[in-house]
Amino acid sequence: MFLSKKSPLVAIDIGSSSIKLVQLTEFKEGQYELIRFGMMPLDKECIVEGAIKKPALVTEALKNLLKAEKIQSRYAVSAVAGEAVFIKKIKVPVMSEEELSAKITQEAEQYIPFDIDDVALDFQILGAIHTDKEDESELDDGSQDNDEQKEDSNEEGEMMEALLVAVQREVIDERTDILLEADLKPAIIDLDVFALMNAARLTTDLSSMGTIALIDLGDSFTHINIIQDGTMGYTRDIPVGGGYLTNLLMTKFRIPFNQTLDIKRGKFSSDIKEEEVIEVITRAYKKVLDEVQKSFDYFGTLSDHQIERVLLCGGGSMIRGLDGFFANHLKIPVEVLDPMRGVKINPKNFDQSLIDEMSGLSTVALGLATRRFDYK
Ligand SMILES: Nc1ncnc2c1ncn2[C@@H]1O[C@H](COP(=O)(O)OP(=O)(O)OP(=O)(O)O)[C@@H](O)[C@H]1O
Ligand SMILES: [Mg+2]
Repeated sequence: MFLSKKSPLVAIDIGSSSIKLVQLTEFKEGQYELIRFGMMPLDKECIVEGAIKKPALVTEALKNLLKAEKIQSRYAVSAVAGEAVFIKKIKVPVMSEEELSAKITQEAEQYIPFDIDDVALDFQILGAIHTDKEDESELDDGSQDNDEQKEDSNEEGEMMEALLVAVQREVIDERTDILLEADLKPAIIDLDVFALMNAARLTTDLSSMGTIALIDLGDSFTHINIIQDGTMGYTRDIPVGGGYLTNLLMTKFRIPFNQTLDIKRGKFSSDIKEEEVIEVITRAYKKVLDEVQKSFDYFGTLSDHQIERVLLCGGGSMIRGLDGFFANHLKIPVEVLDPMRGVKINPKNFDQSLIDEMSGLSTVALGLATRRFDYK
């Protein structure tokens, strides 16, 4: 008999503007301590519209990050997002996991917009659903004369819901190659959205919140994820993010790229007027909000549920007052997630002010780091 040994995975989030690394230990079930946390910026041309254009530069940045963080564990967990990912809740007849596994390609073919041979498929059974037929047969309970009809109703009514996930293999390979080149062993390739949900769960009970939107304000993308009672409902990546604001700031104030972050953090010299900064930030985020509203409207056409609350994360969520700005426009409560608060941090190992400065960026990596890889 072998005892399985838990090895902390190194979580690597390869974002458009930087690579983030997090490693946690689980000191008690479901309770984590931060042991490594770092980031390495990436040049603008490295990742364009989610595609890795300069793999050698990304690998080099990752190697430097692993060195700076003195990473010894080789097992890594990373994630993919964007247009290469397709997620949908599907309805299928009730069957076991093994049965669905054997049939998943056939089931998936009708839904996914990519060539079935080019995707990796996965699914998760969400549970049985009660259909009208089933309800009818329940009403029939007790009557003796329609057994045959009852059997038919049950057969037709026994349906279940499953979450179908399809990811273009090319994108998985692209990310895996970077990890391998940096001498890591990719143990899990997750999806950004699942990582975000795992991170949010560190401080929030998603299952008790009804229908919410978890919005990750990244650099190239705004990742919108609608969660219903703790399970994934709908996802969309909008190709506008903090990078758009960076460009507007550079043009408006004729400043180089490396001064834009200070402005976003509210630190700027007196020759830049605060009202002008606010005007540019408002303009940039208005564009994001318009797209968010469109996604919410579209979700409204798919579902009977209304989005009740927004949780913000990602680098872009660290702009002061952004939650209020979003709440005013969307007319629902908005809060900024801070999942780092759900993790034990030893002040001997980390400077809390640095953690606070980077916490918004860490959400995906933090969620990934809660995943475990048991090996024998
Ligand atoms: N303190 C801050 N205040 C405001 N914006 C910030 C702050 N720190 C970083 N940002 C902005 O956040 C963005 C980076 O966020 P993040 O790291 O979440 O994106 P990413 O993961 O690299 O990109 P993507 O998810 O789109 O691939 C940049 O546009 C950056 O300028
Ligand atoms: Mg990101």
